[in-house]
Amino acid sequence: MAGINLTRLRKSYTVDRRTVPVLTGLDLSIPENAITVVLGKSGCGKTTLLRLIAGLEPPDSGQISLPGNQRTAFVFQEPRLLPWLSVLDNVQFPLKRSEIRPDETRWMLDTVGLSGFERALPHQLSGGMQQRTALARALLFHPTLILMDEPFAALDHFTRVDMQHALLDIRQKTNASILFVTHSIDEALTLGDTLVILSDGVITARYSIPGQPRDLLSDDMIRLRRRIVASLE
Ligand SMILES: Nc1ncnc2c1ncn2[C@@H]1O[C@H](COP(=O)(O)OP(=O)(O)OP(=O)(O)O)[C@@H](O)[C@H]1O
Ligand SMILES: [Mg+2]
Repeated sequence: MAGINLTRLRKSYTVDRRTVPVLTGLDLSIPENAITVVLGKSGCGKTTLLRLIAGLEPPDSGQISLPGNQRTAFVFQEPRLLPWLSVLDNVQFPLKRSEIRPDETRWMLDTVGLSGFERALPHQLSGGMQQRTALARALLFHPTLILMDEPFAALDHFTRVDMQHALLDIRQKTNASILFVTHSIDEALTLGDTLVILSDGVITARYSIPGQPRDLLSDDMIRLRRRIVASLE
């Protein structure tokens, strides 16, 4: 199947001469052109999973099969902008000169609500604006895979909802596989085409959620929320 396949992934860390198992034989397929949300408690291994997929560190065993033309963008919980570069230079920073498309950059900055701030430096932006810059930078890179590690967790409720809508809007316009990590059940239900629960080092449940936009207060969604809460406990 196209997309990304993870097979029997294992990873443990040694802390204070103790071995801490984090992933214990995890299987997961991440389809193209969809948002897969990973939901799990703090410390269950979500960031570790993203780091292994990004190749930032190797698994102890198991396989990560990626398409040949893989181009990965990582959006972290904090924006990680270069402080001496403007918004425009930050979002274009990962691109080669020949890859820069001024019209597309303008459109992307408009989509994330940053028109008029192209020349601003990161310290002149609010936290939400910085995070939107990081999202624009990731998307302009034309990734085939976007790894998102609680990217909206530090934002206020209203900015967070705006960013979720921007991501759903952009999801329509890209074929990328999006792997989105969150603690928030609401965020998972809002964004995920597929929602998986990571617990005890493996995927313990998988839910497909058809259709957008969603009413989180509908009977179906409330039923699904109950099942998810039960599978997290
Ligand atoms: N470099 C490391 N060295 C040692 N232990 C680590 C390292 N990275 C992660 N761990 C341990 O692995 C476990 C999983 O950490 P991870 O950061 O993947 O969790 P998480 O699900 O992302 O948590 P959170 O929701 O709080 O971000 C934790 O017990 C953590 O202490
Ligand atoms: Mg984490």
